[in-house]
Amino acid sequence: RTIVILISGRGSNMQAIIRAAQNEKWPVKIAAVISNRTDASGLRFATEEGIPAIVVPHKDYATREAFDAALQSRIDEFAPDLLVLAGFMRVLTARFVGHYAGRMLNIHPSLLPSFIGLATHRQALAAGVKIHGATVHFVTADLDHGPIVAQATVPVLADDTEDTLAARVLEQEHLIYPQAIRSFIEGRLSLIDGIACIATDKV
Ligand code: GRF
Repeated sequence: RTIVILISGRGSNMQAIIRAAQNEKWPVKIAAVISNRTDASGLRFATEEGIPAIVVPHKDYATREAFDAALQSRIDEFAPDLLVLAGFMRVLTARFVGHYAGRMLNIHPSLLPSFIGLATHRQALAAGVKIHGATVHFVTADLDHGPIVAQATVPVLADDTEDTLAARVLEQEHLIYPQAIRSFIEGRLSLIDGIACIATDKV
């Protein structure tokens, strides 16, 4: 099994995935890490791990369609079974999403369907929710609305700031995202009729 990871910045989720794959000896090749930004600090970690770290700068393309087409051709050089979005901050065209239907995952820092889009921790604090979290989902053309694979919750504390809340959620992201990817790699997770199905271990 082969995976390609897309990032835009720090890449802490990417690091958690790579470390889990190594430590748990997943039957997987992490073929490439691709960023749309040259200054994504996560690229360095990938390089240090001997994983090709590639930049496809969105600024070089006049349209979203042209960027997505270029990105797709770089990705498909590695023929991935799974495409992993890990803090990839570009909205993708329906055509691109359709090409990876059932084999593209994302992590979103909220309990979907609450708080789609950006600044999710600020949204959660403004709403006054007492429980917040993160969601792994299959990517569909409808932004942040794809079939849910896994979620983790954290409490929202009275003295939380966006940063303290983000850190608490991120810790959970680093746990649930690798495990969801592992399920896919091991053939236990698939998208069937628009629903994410996870096979449980036989008892
Ligand atoms: C994470 O909170 C992720 O859920 C969101 O952006 C952040 C990326 O962090 N989409 P990192 O680049 O994985 O460290």
